Amino acid sequence: MSSFKSISGTFDILPDGETSGGDTIAPSRDWQRVEQAIRKVMQAYGAEEIRTPILEPTELISRGVGQLTDIVSKEMFAFERGNTNYVLRPEMTAPVMRAYQQHHLDQKGGVQRLYYIGPCFRAERPQKGRYRQFHQFGLEIIGASDARADAETIVCAVDIYRALGLDNFTIRLNSLGDAESRPRYKQALIEFITPFADQLSEVSRNRLESNPMRILDTKSEKEQSLLVGAPKLADYIDEESKAHHNEVKAYLDAVGIKYVDDPFLVRGLDYYSRTAFEIESDTLGSQGSLAGGGRYDLLSTELGAKQVIPAVGFAAGMERLLMALEAANLSGGEKTRLDAFLVAMGDAAINWTFPTARSLRDLGLDVAYDLKGRSMKAQLREANRQNARFMVIVGDEELASGTAQVKDMDQSSQKTVSFDQLANELKR
Ligand code: HAM
Repeated sequence: MSSFKSISGTFDILPDGETSGGDTIAPSRDWQRVEQAIRKVMQAYGAEEIRTPILEPTELISRGVGQLTDIVSKEMFAFERGNTNYVLRPEMTAPVMRAYQQHHLDQKGGVQRLYYIGPCFRAERPQKGRYRQFHQFGLEIIGASDARADAETIVCAVDIYRALGLDNFTIRLNSLGDAESRPRYKQALIEFITPFADQLSEVSRNRLESNPMRILDTKSEKEQSLLVGAPKLADYIDEESKAHHNEVKAYLDAVGIKYVDDPFLVRGLDYYSRTAFEIESDTLGSQGSLAGGGRYDLLSTELGAKQVIPAVGFAAGMERLLMALEAANLSGGEKTRLDAFLVAMGDAAINWTFPTARSLRDLGLDVAYDLKGRSMKAQLREANRQNARFMVIVGDEELASGTAQVKDMDQSSQKTVSFDQLANELKR
């Protein structure tokens, strides 16, 4: 056995799943089932897939996501090579906006709906539901300032969860206002908090000047009680943003999507303006954030565009979704079945397996056989492990008569089938 292990906070996705530090990682077939559901819903929304590199220029992320965010200040896997600074992407919104600009996707006219599924990397303290390599799926709608686009990203995420049977989550919604609203609000918060700043934790105190809105996110009850009566962002945002927010809510109301208006919702990324939202699992506890997103009109110019490219999107954690499905007893992806497992007895039969398996596969059947020349008993065990519908047993006698013993594993019946009828028998 190897003396190497996967790095803490990363995991293998195995055919039958894995237990990693007390956490259950779902089997690969569950991942596939969830990915298929995501692709189907994305297609229903007219979204097309985008795949961007895992390596990006570090500056794209530090400028895009924001220097003062936790992601950039302490969670990036970044390194230098030659004269270039690389980062393993911690999220996909900035990369997608980079690709949009780099390939002039605006010139295709209309609005781009781009979706993705793939790994992201953040150097966080690993714990249940929080990993260093995790997987996000998401949708970015680029080129639309219409409030329907905001509502549509939320509804799309909801439809993915519902397609998988999940409905025990809460949508929290807020508006962060325009580019000027936040500095105004930030100032008001600093003025409110400063008189009791010495009673705050060191982490919160450090945030006071740089990012006081994050203090509102505190999990400490003592701090929460000090913050009662803090200014609300809603009172500092501009009229247009307020109207936009009301429109988004009206669209959600129109399709019966419930949400909680949460004036204290702030996101851990700096690029948002106007809409910000999170979808929280009602069952997962402390790592319960299933998805998050919002409008990020100013990211485009931050990354160098001459004009604002309005955009809105969401991203969601695959691991969190799989955990929520398991908690709700909804995970059960069926183990895939082989049509046939070829059981060979003797050298001549062993030679027969290779070309036979290939020609049966050509006819659309899923076929495997033992590669180690093992005993009959071991081959039968393997056939069972692989959940084969039929076992096709061949020895010297069968080869001489051009027949095989075909055992139906569900019926526990067995019959003799000639080689030229074998494929038909297995296709039944
Ligand atoms: P985010 O809130 O940083 O947003 O991440 C989105 C989701 O990714 C979270 O709700 C969570 O489910 C999952 N996630 C994040 N970090 C981890 C981790 N360490 N381990 C496991 N799961 C994790 C964004 O990334 C934005 N790009 C969302 C967005 C898209 N905004 C506009 N478009």
